[in-house]
Amino acid sequence: MYILSAQNVSFAYDKRELFKGCSINFQKGHFYALVGESGSGKTTFLALLGGLEKAQKGAILYKGQDIAKMNEGKYLRECVTFIFQEYNLIPYMSALDNVLLAMSIHGLKADKLKAINSLMEVGLDNRTYAQKVKTLSGGERQRVAIARALACDSEVILADEPTGNLDENTSETIIKLFQKLAHVHQKCVIVVTHSQNVSANADIAVFLDQSLKRFVLAS
Ligand SMILES: Nc1ncnc2c1ncn2[C@@H]1O[C@H](COP(=O)(O)OP(=O)(O)OP(=O)(O)O)[C@@H](O)[C@H]1O
Ligand SMILES: [Mg+2]
Repeated sequence: MYILSAQNVSFAYDKRELFKGCSINFQKGHFYALVGESGSGKTTFLALLGGLEKAQKGAILYKGQDIAKMNEGKYLRECVTFIFQEYNLIPYMSALDNVLLAMSIHGLKADKLKAINSLMEVGLDNRTYAQKVKTLSGGERQRVAIARALACDSEVILADEPTGNLDENTSETIIKLFQKLAHVHQKCVIVVTHSQNVSANADIAVFLDQSLKRFVLAS
């Protein structure tokens, strides 16, 4: 069974049609790269998958269930974690407190041991995770964002240009962590990217064809 599916999704902003009858399935344990021209609608598609935007036609199914018909906020709170280029962490809180806060928002007990384990797993030691996020490097911040996804246990991880601000070596580290999330932790990892390195290291790369307004397997 697919963990996440877009079924015949059509979406437009006013008169700008981005998707027309777009269908695609995602499995857990896989790392997907979504690629396509700037402005083609990749970020919008992540917003649809995450339940932040609503398709005008068609549906997003989570484990076969239409997310629009799930309990208000439940899908967003419990099933999905977002990772952004800009990290979206609270700069004046420590890395550990950021993870603990995310756990509470996800309706989980703010379990310090679990948060610390997640931070250690992404390679942040006890000195680093105690620091305020504003004092961390970009690569370290992105690791905190990944630790947050791990600690929150959501099965779907949606990332938008997560290596956009990072150098090549740091990107490699982040790519390996995405592979681990998918292959070891059995998450469904969906990453929008312009980076060839990221898409080459994904299990499946799909290309958003602007003229077709749907995804096709990238060659
Ligand atoms: N809230 C909005 N209202 C109206 N138009 C929007 C809105 N958000 C995005 N758009 C338009 O929809 C199109 C797709 O935007 P989107 O951000 O999804 O593209 P993208 O593929 O992520 O591009 P990039 O690779 O540059 O990040 C763009 O033309 C954009 O201007
Ligand atoms: Mg975008």
